[in-house]
Amino acid sequence: VGGSIQGRVALITGASSGIGEGVALALAEQGARVFATGRRPERLAALKRRIEAAGGEAHVIAGDMTEEAFAVSLVDRAVRRFGRLDILVNAAGVGIHGKVEGGDVGWWRHSMDINLFATLITCAAAIPVMRRQGEGDIVNVSSTAGRRQIGGPYGTSKIALNSFHEGLRSEVGPDGIRCCIIEPGATTTEIWRKNPDPQEREAQRRRLTEDGVLLPEDIAACIVLALELPRRTNIAEMLIRPTIDVAPGVGL
Ligand SMILES: NC(=O)c1ccc[n+]([C@@H]2O[C@H](COP(=O)([O-])OP(=O)(O)OC[C@H]3O[C@@H](n4cnc5c(N)ncnc54)[C@H](OP(=O)(O)O)[C@@H]3O)[C@@H](O)[C@H]2O)c1
Repeated sequence: VGGSIQGRVALITGASSGIGEGVALALAEQGARVFATGRRPERLAALKRRIEAAGGEAHVIAGDMTEEAFAVSLVDRAVRRFGRLDILVNAAGVGIHGKVEGGDVGWWRHSMDINLFATLITCAAAIPVMRRQGEGDIVNVSSTAGRRQIGGPYGTSKIALNSFHEGLRSEVGPDGIRCCIIEPGATTTEIWRKNPDPQEREAQRRRLTEDGVLLPEDIAACIVLALELPRRTNIAEMLIRPTIDVAPGVGL
């Protein structure tokens, strides 16, 4: 069986902006029925309008992925809306950088809650559904920071996510569920705006808005590519970097 995206049902978290939004648009363009989530209802409504205006199908729901009951309910809601779940893309995340000394432990907890635990929760809910179907695709959005020890709340959460993902892949591969971890380098999105530390925010803004850095549609195109391959082929890990390094030596 080929990996056509046409008619497949995709649940995408973090779809109200950036990479998740780009993925939702790209999958809808390929004919997927999209179930998209994030916290900002107006951004989700705009996404739905855009998809529908292009002839696609989308259902959106706003909520906070750090609220466990909401995160747990998403897969079930998507299945109730569309009858099945073929693709789960976990793109919700925060990019909080910071030091150990004087750092707010709440930033670390929050980073783990959204970057690791929210993903764990949706994956756990998706597994039985995909197993029953005999196939499914899980795409988790990590970062170059998932491959390199950069420390801080962000780096720590992404390293943890990569390790989680490796276990997930070997656990569910035998059920026909493909798992792909995406590790983008610098990508122009809104992520820097949400950094609570003003210095880190400014440094991140400069890195992520430079000419030549990746765009959400670039990451989305790579995900489409991975999904379209024959089902025996699992691009297990995808490191995507701008052609010209933003921070040479750092690997962004
Ligand atoms: N931009 C980069 O350079 C880059 C590089 C590597 C990896 N990534 C990863 O890509 C993913 C997406 O980030 P982005 O760059 O696209 O940033 P973004 O534009 O800020 O998007 C983050 C998304 O996550 C959602 N989100 C954040 N906290 C949430 C919460 N508590 N509950 C529900 N949704 C929440 C946001 O929606 P609301 O604000 O509406 O809740 C938004 O849709 C993240 O995992 C990030 O680590 C980004």
